[in-house]
Amino acid sequence: MTTFRSIEWKEGTLRLIDQRVLPKETVYLEFKDYCEVAEAIKAMVVRGAPAIGAAAAYGLALAANASTATDVQQLSQDLQAAAEVLRASRPTAVNLFWAIDRVLKKVSSLENQDVQTIRQAVLDEAHLIAEEDIQANRQIGLNALPLIPDPAKILHHCNTGSLATVDYGTALGIIRIAHENGKQVHAYLDETRPRLQGARLSAWELNQLGIPHTVIVDGASGFLMKKVGIDLCVVGADRIAANGDTANKIGTYNLAIAAKEHGVPFYVAAPTSTIDMSISSGEQIPIEIRDRNEIAFVGSEQVMPDGSPVLNYAFDVTPARYITAIITEVGIAYPPYEENLPKLMKQVKEGTIQ
Ligand code: MRU
Repeated sequence: MTTFRSIEWKEGTLRLIDQRVLPKETVYLEFKDYCEVAEAIKAMVVRGAPAIGAAAAYGLALAANASTATDVQQLSQDLQAAAEVLRASRPTAVNLFWAIDRVLKKVSSLENQDVQTIRQAVLDEAHLIAEEDIQANRQIGLNALPLIPDPAKILHHCNTGSLATVDYGTALGIIRIAHENGKQVHAYLDETRPRLQGARLSAWELNQLGIPHTVIVDGASGFLMKKVGIDLCVVGADRIAANGDTANKIGTYNLAIAAKEHGVPFYVAAPTSTIDMSISSGEQIPIEIRDRNEIAFVGSEQVMPDGSPVLNYAFDVTPARYITAIITEVGIAYPPYEENLPKLMKQVKEGTIQ
């Protein structure tokens, strides 16, 4: 079992493990104000697409609790206003928008109820989103099992584990389930510049779980495929377009190109809440550009001259043609994605999850 929860709700308070200070310190920050939750998402106290979605849903629960509304119309307006603030926190991960829309949809379905019932319904929906995320992650891992050879050397980018989700994880969850099922897996972890989610967070999680792993610099992945022999790459996603193009942490695209050159299967693992069928290709995915100082400084040490400009793309888009398969909780989609993703999403709508 994971010994921590990235996101907890305790007696009207949202608790988030502060991912900025791991692995040095394990600290939980407490939130009662949805604006502070939005700031925490922006600052990456909480990060990873599914975790951001769940945190925003709980942010709405905080907004509902804090609202002084005495009628349902006023409460709905307060929630809409909170939703706008939360939506503006980070642009790329669609799970953020998905979770907010889901909670608001629940609220509008309860128009004839009283204020207290709606407050409770918002919290219940946030709990449901969190619980479903854990179940989805486990199912992703189980669905992926037949794709993992034994033994397997697996290359992973960023952090997609229990920290990036509510628990368990997507791509890192696959590595975990393979290990728990007795497969001899060895994870190679891209350190993931500039925020070092691989070196700081994925290594921290795999250490606790006793899963063999090695951290590499991002630029080493091509050479590693040649020298060590990687069996597969598995990464997470922040948004998958209807044609399979996938936005994920910067460096994912480079990794996919290297994998293609070396004939290494390249898998994307994500819950269906990360699939955005409203956009036809990755061209339409908004890509976050973050602060200069994330690159200009390593810790408190400035590592480049003041005068040199920086371009800090937080995500890139891997074209679908580089992706061997997309592993979700309802099954595995193979190319052509423009045909197979709609089929997969139809199962979600109809509730016919395998
Ligand atoms: O900037 P981050 O750390 O939020 O980016 C995280 C990623 O890119 C993850 O791979 C993605 O959100 C999937 S997490 C299950």
